[in-house]
Amino acid sequence: MQDFSFYNPTRIEFGAGKIATLAQLVPANARVLVLFGGESARRTGTLDEVTTALGEREVQLFGGIEPNPSFETLMEAVAVVRNNDIDFLLAVGGGSVIDGTKFVAAAALFDGDAWDILLQGGQNIERALPFGSVLTLPATGSEMNKGSVITRKALQAKLPFMSEWVYPRFSVLDPVKTYTLPARQVANGVVDAFVHVMEQYLTYPAQAPVQDRFAEGLLHTLIEIGPKALAEPEDYQTRASLMWTATLALNGLIGAGVPQDWATHMLGHELTALHGLDHAQTLAIVLPEMLRQRKATKLGKLVQYAERVWNIREGSDDEKAESAIERTRAFFESVGVKTRLGDYSLNAEHIDGIIDSLQRHGMVALGEHGDVTPEHCRQILLASL
Ligand code: NZQ
Ligand code: ZN
Repeated sequence: MQDFSFYNPTRIEFGAGKIATLAQLVPANARVLVLFGGESARRTGTLDEVTTALGEREVQLFGGIEPNPSFETLMEAVAVVRNNDIDFLLAVGGGSVIDGTKFVAAAALFDGDAWDILLQGGQNIERALPFGSVLTLPATGSEMNKGSVITRKALQAKLPFMSEWVYPRFSVLDPVKTYTLPARQVANGVVDAFVHVMEQYLTYPAQAPVQDRFAEGLLHTLIEIGPKALAEPEDYQTRASLMWTATLALNGLIGAGVPQDWATHMLGHELTALHGLDHAQTLAIVLPEMLRQRKATKLGKLVQYAERVWNIREGSDDEKAESAIERTRAFFESVGVKTRLGDYSLNAEHIDGIIDSLQRHGMVALGEHGDVTPEHCRQILLASL
């Protein structure tokens, strides 16, 4: 096991009806800005429930945070915060709204050009407004982590930042709030959570048996409940398991003390920035060929994954790895997330642009060994056509 420092201050309030606890969670004298996405929070009644729970507090609303939240929109929210002496933020939505709120929390107190936060990956953040979240879409883990991914539309750039200043103070997880999700978003959530586990698990053996078993447990759970979450949208226990699994997949726990990869995510971000694919769609395309291209350095873990997660016992190590990769692809397809560039009207002509973008963003030495180059990424995309 590697040395590590583990810190996670986010309180989780989990269960049906837990939005009412906002009455205690948000400071009584706070001037609150509630941030949300398009129309779903209003349409489903969640926004009303939130404002009711906030009672007599001074509350303003900021809607319109788009999927893959944009710097441009979020800077409008920063202006609202500054002009109204807002001192507490509340995100109501999925990963995009929570990520956006993290950025607003930091940018509102940032001196200088707030885009620098992204250019420096968050290392220049020295303070942030306190905020909480009400999660409506299990997928990203943003509700219990210190990461955020922001898109600057004008530059076609989608970049991550991390800072301990942007852990949510609390997150309310009510599985009932996920019943209204379209199937596409449920499937996206299953795939995103699955790939988060893989980025922290499928590297090389690091003598970290408990992290491995946690990771395998999360993968098994997703394989088991993913299809059920789609087939029975109002099965409370299934939605509850999906919600907690997605949080645990990226709240720092399984990644403590082990090597981490994240190359699939970084390449995927370019696909979203340039071509607008959903985050999970990009991961479903990239992960299978990413694993295949790097089979030699990942073989130990691929065989372990094959045996323990997919119960593949026959064949050579190489055959086990191959079958596990194909089972992974088939799983993504089975929940309805397509795994080929062609499924999203992308072809070989688009690959140069994606590789250029990767280079422009300095994503030239990716993966747990820092040895995944733009040329590898090109081969991965070619194999994913
Ligand atoms: O905008 P509205 O109308 O609210 O609709 C949203 C949106 O269109 C809808 N939705 C959310 N909750 C709903 C609902 N519709 C009906 N009922 C509900 N209960 O779902 C759509 C997608 O929402 P979004 O927040 O974009 O999805 P997701 O949670 O998958 O977040 C994706 C974003 O998170 C980033 C991604 O890059 C992407 O920008 N990520 C953040 C991470 C982190 N902070 O740690 C890690 C991830 O790897 C990921 O990169
Ligand atoms: Zn992700």
